[in-house]
Amino acid sequence: RHLSTSQSTAKVERLTVFGAGLMGAGIAQIGAQSGLKVILSDVTDKALENGLNIISKSLTRVAKKKSPDDIEGFTSKILQNIETTTDAGKAVQEADLVVEAIIESIKVKRDLFGFLDTKAKADCIFATNTSSLSVKEIAESCGKERREKFAGLHFFNPVPAMKLVEIIKTPETSNSTYESLREVTLRMGKSPVTCNDTPGFIVNRLLVPYLLESIRMVERGDATPEDIDTAMELGAGYPMGPFKLLDFVGLDTTSYIAQGWREKAAAGAISKELVEPIGLLEKLVKEGKMGRKSGQGFYNVSELPMLK
Ligand code: 3HC
Repeated sequence: RHLSTSQSTAKVERLTVFGAGLMGAGIAQIGAQSGLKVILSDVTDKALENGLNIISKSLTRVAKKKSPDDIEGFTSKILQNIETTTDAGKAVQEADLVVEAIIESIKVKRDLFGFLDTKAKADCIFATNTSSLSVKEIAESCGKERREKFAGLHFFNPVPAMKLVEIIKTPETSNSTYESLREVTLRMGKSPVTCNDTPGFIVNRLLVPYLLESIRMVERGDATPEDIDTAMELGAGYPMGPFKLLDFVGLDTTSYIAQGWREKAAAGAISKELVEPIGLLEKLVKEGKMGRKSGQGFYNVSELPMLK
């Protein structure tokens, strides 16, 4: 089985990443670290510059461990594998794999993929890093041929450090597409798992209700965020308690995921009471307290070095 799939499976050498935010930059970085030729694309030069900054900082961190005597040489060698462009059509011309990590909007994602479908090679694989939308609904922006080459490829934050990737198959995703994605994620040093196209896939389906429940505990006055974090870190062995993780992931992102799932709960895909709106969460988001990205969430983020 392995022989036949590897024969029919094209090896990914050229990766194009759309979206130079935290996730996109991380995906471009690990692609470049694993020897792929990477193009990072976004709509503005400013966004691309920001993405390259994220990558340089993270590479310096990696280099301090892997190549402490030549940090500069290590980072510049990997950065050589990354080009940037704001021209989406050009970015995708020679790609074997496209990974999209742009804003979580079904319309914007569908518009992008619909356009890329007309520009990319016929055998180019399309993947979305969506964490909250249906992969099938995004794939439907492409023609039938491409939909066989379309899947979810869900990375975790911080991408360079987190070993997991969820590969999401739609009913149309072909086996050879799946095998190519598995192979390239292994080359990136990640451990792939597979899940159907269901709300939250595996990790977020379990993690988000847990995060929401921890906010409900604080809202009821059962315990403080600090004590809940200490409890889960020391009592359950989690690297970060739920409130540090909420600040890390973003309170707005968490609220947005829950909101999307409320619609899915109506269709029976997830239990309704797990995703009921939470006053405290909505209040903090309205006040601009979104966690790491805004400097303040449940914590004053500058006081938490691990969130930097
Ligand atoms: N770039 C490169 N390497 C990084 C890094 C970065 N941005 N951040 C951390 N690392 C590396 C460190 O260099 C270190 O490497 P080593 O093991 O080779 O020494 C390793 O990761 C651990 O980092 P630290 O020792 O500095 O700090 P911690 O041990 O506290 O780990 C953490 C930091 C990896 C962020 C850890 O706290 C953790 O695992 N937290 C939970 C993160 C999590 O749950 N993420 C998933 C969020 S959900 C999500 O992303 C889904 C989305 O769709 C909502």
